[in-house]
Amino acid sequence: MPQKVILDVDTGSDDAVAIMMAILAPEIDLVGICSVNGNKGIENTTENTLRTVQLLGSDVPVYKGCPAPMVKRLFPGRYGWTRAQKVGEVDGKKVEYHTDFLDMLPPASIKPQPQNAVSWLIDTLMASDGDITIVPVGPLTNLAMAIRIEPAIVSKIKEVILMGGGHRITNTTSAAEFNIWEDPEAAQIVLTSGCKVTLVPLDATHAAYVTAQESKEIRSIGTPAAIATADLIDQRIKAYNVAQPMKVQDSAPVHDALAVLAVIDPTVLQEVRFARIDVDISGGFADGMTIVDNRALPDYPKNAYIALDADREKFVRMLKHYLSKS
Ligand code: RIB
Ligand code: CA
Repeated sequence: MPQKVILDVDTGSDDAVAIMMAILAPEIDLVGICSVNGNKGIENTTENTLRTVQLLGSDVPVYKGCPAPMVKRLFPGRYGWTRAQKVGEVDGKKVEYHTDFLDMLPPASIKPQPQNAVSWLIDTLMASDGDITIVPVGPLTNLAMAIRIEPAIVSKIKEVILMGGGHRITNTTSAAEFNIWEDPEAAQIVLTSGCKVTLVPLDATHAAYVTAQESKEIRSIGTPAAIATADLIDQRIKAYNVAQPMKVQDSAPVHDALAVLAVIDPTVLQEVRFARIDVDISGGFADGMTIVDNRALPDYPKNAYIALDADREKFVRMLKHYLSKS
């Protein structure tokens, strides 16, 4: 029986691959996709989401979500593009993790649904049998807003499997990972909501890196989704080589796709532990840090699962398998 999933995305290069996995995998019944501010502004992340859905000829509905974090931007100094977001240039050409638009895809001719993502999330979850898994792979603003507006949705959410956080690895600041850093309060609301939450952090996504050679193999699959994925991975490898060189030269993580594939086969995640996890919202050097309390007797009840490793070979095998389907 396919698993019902709602994706929440800030499309983005790796979000696009995650969307393709969710559409192509028969094990997933993709109920809808919510866009959110994150890698780029809401208009861009929505357009990029629509372009990806259009590429696969899917009729999955897209709902436009929140254009800004819940409160972070109200505090001067808490919000400012960090050094880590500016990647740099190679041979005089700008390289970046995420371009304003997914230029390898034609502009979308399909439109988002008229209802905003937060109210659609509430309506859909409240009408459900409690069998929907939410997979946020961007800042958690939409889900946190929905929880605040209608707390009853918590009992209607089967599980939240989110790409976000970092225990031993960070990216946006010395302490934080981007999805959590962009809206720390939203992340803390989700983590303390009572939902079953699994974090797929940078510790896992960096372990599941994809190499330039594997990108070539993906491109040779030849399907539209495979060719687009190879373009996106190659773009990411260029950026990682400049700004976050991986242990393996010419490789890059495809963060968001790992969270989606974990819905299909949880064993793609490794070293999964149940711990107390909170997010720093103090606005200081550690703003947006995921604080993992591994102690046997944490100060507060344990509240989330976190995967600190991943099965890289299985991840790449699953990527290729589903990309052969489009
Ligand atoms: O830190 C990685 C996360 O931030 C990914 O979801 C990427 O798309 C960006 O949103
Ligand atoms: Ca993302």
